[in-house]
Amino acid sequence: MTTAYRALLLGATGLIGQAVLARLLAHPAWARVTVFTRRPLVDAAGNPLAHDKLVVRETGLDDMDACADDFAVDQVFCCLGTTLRKAGSKAAFRRVDHDYCVEAARLARRQGADHFLVVSAVNANPRARVFYSRIKGEMEAAVEALNFPSLSIIQPSLLLGNRQEFRLGEQVGIWSAKALKPLAGWSDASWLPIESDTVAQAMVAAAALPEPGTRRLRYAALRSLAASSQ
Ligand SMILES: NC(=O)c1ccc[n+]([C@@H]2O[C@H](COP(=O)([O-])OP(=O)(O)OC[C@H]3O[C@@H](n4cnc5c(N)ncnc54)[C@H](OP(=O)(O)O)[C@@H]3O)[C@@H](O)[C@H]2O)c1
Repeated sequence: MTTAYRALLLGATGLIGQAVLARLLAHPAWARVTVFTRRPLVDAAGNPLAHDKLVVRETGLDDMDACADDFAVDQVFCCLGTTLRKAGSKAAFRRVDHDYCVEAARLARRQGADHFLVVSAVNANPRARVFYSRIKGEMEAAVEALNFPSLSIIQPSLLLGNRQEFRLGEQVGIWSAKALKPLAGWSDASWLPIESDTVAQAMVAAAALPEPGTRRLRYAALRSLAASSQ
């Protein structure tokens, strides 16, 4: 594979972002991966992460314009997100899950990035009554309006993976979904929990084989894309 892609990754310390970063660094098609992070990146042993393809910018996201040049890449992977509990208020949640994502997309489009890949959620809907789903839906609509040559909107249900912090609501959802899994054959299964590494693998596969226009990828499509890249 001879492609020398350059990517920018936001959210590299998160469950999906960490897996995307590991996969991009290991992938022969990527020559450079720039990461914006507000805390140091470390490897499994706790040592600072170093790799010849990796460029780390330790920065917050309130003034991404100051780093506009870093958006002149082939793809921007946006794996940002928080929870209402961690953010502390609806406004602070919206800043991360909507404003930062949309601002990153605007800069990526302005700087000529061909492909924007953003993690949203399965129930995203700008008219939803549930706050979380509404913010995700509004973010999707704002990013879609920018008319990227390729836009991949990732819509997982609950994420499985090795998370340091315990999130009770998510854990209850995962247990419930596992109990209901036998019913998946009667639906499109998009509500089933999915491994965060499968999502990451699918994102990298989607970036390696971009399609024109917008595509929304849920459980079945994510698993199939991930499997096709093995
Ligand atoms: N968890 C689920 O079950 C689930 C289900 C469906 C969809 N999703 C969506 O999937 C996406 C990724 O989820 P995840 O579980 O991988 O996320 P995560 O583990 O919580 O990681 C979120 C990332 O966003 C960064 N971030 C959060 N607030 C920030 C801020 N104020 N400034 C700068 N960076 C900030 C975090 O940086 P720090 O490490 O510095 O905090 C981290 O890198 C999110 O959009 C989430 O809503 C999650």
